[in-house]
Amino acid sequence: MSDLLEAYKDRLKDHFPNDFLWGVALSAKQAEGIQGRGITVADLQDYNPNDTTKVKGDLTKKEILERLEHPENYVFPKKIGIEFYQRYCEDLKLLKEMGINCFRLSISWARMYPNGDDATINEEGIAFYDQLFKEIKQLDITPIVTLYHDDMPLHLALTYNGFIDRKVIDLYVRFATFVMERYKDYVQYWIPLNQINLTRVGLSSLGVIKDTVQHLDQLKWQGVHHKLIGAAQVVKAGRKICKDFKFGSMLADFLVNPETCKPEDVAFATEKNQMTMYFFSDLQFRGMYPNYALRFFKQNNIHIQFEDGDFELLKENCMDYLAISYYNSNVVSKEKNTMAIGDSIMNPYLEANPWGWTVNPLGLYNCFLQYWDRYQKPLMIAENGFGQIEALDEVYEIYDDYRINYVKDHLQAILKAIQHGVDVFAYCAWSPLDMVSSGTSEMAKRYGFIYVDQDNYGNGSHKRYRKASFYWYQKVIQTNGKSLE
Ligand code: BG6
Repeated sequence: MSDLLEAYKDRLKDHFPNDFLWGVALSAKQAEGIQGRGITVADLQDYNPNDTTKVKGDLTKKEILERLEHPENYVFPKKIGIEFYQRYCEDLKLLKEMGINCFRLSISWARMYPNGDDATINEEGIAFYDQLFKEIKQLDITPIVTLYHDDMPLHLALTYNGFIDRKVIDLYVRFATFVMERYKDYVQYWIPLNQINLTRVGLSSLGVIKDTVQHLDQLKWQGVHHKLIGAAQVVKAGRKICKDFKFGSMLADFLVNPETCKPEDVAFATEKNQMTMYFFSDLQFRGMYPNYALRFFKQNNIHIQFEDGDFELLKENCMDYLAISYYNSNVVSKEKNTMAIGDSIMNPYLEANPWGWTVNPLGLYNCFLQYWDRYQKPLMIAENGFGQIEALDEVYEIYDDYRINYVKDHLQAILKAIQHGVDVFAYCAWSPLDMVSSGTSEMAKRYGFIYVDQDNYGNGSHKRYRKASFYWYQKVIQTNGKSLE
């Protein structure tokens, strides 16, 4: 039998592949806490009990200075995290007990270089990650490492306005190259930037101070360009360190559907998907600014400053796989919405969690088919999960059937996509343990398979308790997903 015929027969998969990576994902800024590292912009995103639903992010210089001078007037949950820095051994053991064979984590830039531009590296930071990676290896877990999860060292924000200054690209690449070199024997999968398409939602992921800039839209696109250049430089440096490294483009799924079948709504949804989603992955897989983007910039008076060598760099350093964080999905109307990412309408056919995040597993199936058709690159879920308010009962248990149902339905959607021919190699649930919310800086929005006894103010025993979903996910992993069928 010819090789091609053999391969042809092997193409249709009925189940999750045998080497599927079953995992969980967390970020340094939400889990580790500030001990032993420098301060970041994210640390200053406070929890405000009078306004819990507001997504934190864009701070003015005055707000930053006020927070630095009078920290006693604020609550800063990200400075505490869930004490992963102190408790990572215990936490990893629990996760191993749950059965994970893959763990997505991020490295804190400010732990390696407390100010971002220090002349020397922080030995304490290296010691922490050395131990962490040793522990992960000992437990036979495959790490997937995000090199920047929106935690810009504060000094770089105040001094350079973050990624707006090309100097910060060099500093980011220096940090990332150090990490790749140091952990090359431990890590194969890298994600240079978390959710690059969300760069335009808030300024914090760029490390930009709100009131120091004008023509915000122009500036955000310039920052996006710099991030893309930084990621391409990281890929270039990484492939020199190890040719087997795999690099992922990572997007938060914001693909929208038209609110109605009115042709204007349909065309608007297509255009919006181009500029809020595909622009980033088209560029990172095809290595070129797409034509539709050039038209968009012209129409909107956006003038990005490119430098010599930028286009060659992008062309020569494309990504290997696509990592998606998928939580919810929405619809848009030409009349009611703008092109801004996140400006959408809730889908009336879907239910939502208390934060208005709709639940749509079929949307995941649908978007995986679209990404696969467009790029034919392996896909992974970098984040997927369900935030809910929860409290321990009198026997210290949590029966989180809503989370079990959410994850089950999304895994079934992934299986359906695999059966439909999509190459999916990993699933990382957000999150292993409850941790501080990125958007609202509260502990109350809990996603974990493991409950962390800690409130919005950092009070509590900090003890960990397995939820019902812990045992449920354990079974899914043990059976390589057969328990879902
Ligand atoms: C993703 C981020 O966009 O959303 C995570 O990468 C974040 O860091 C997750 O935690 C959920 O958002 P939130 O605001 O509920 O924590």
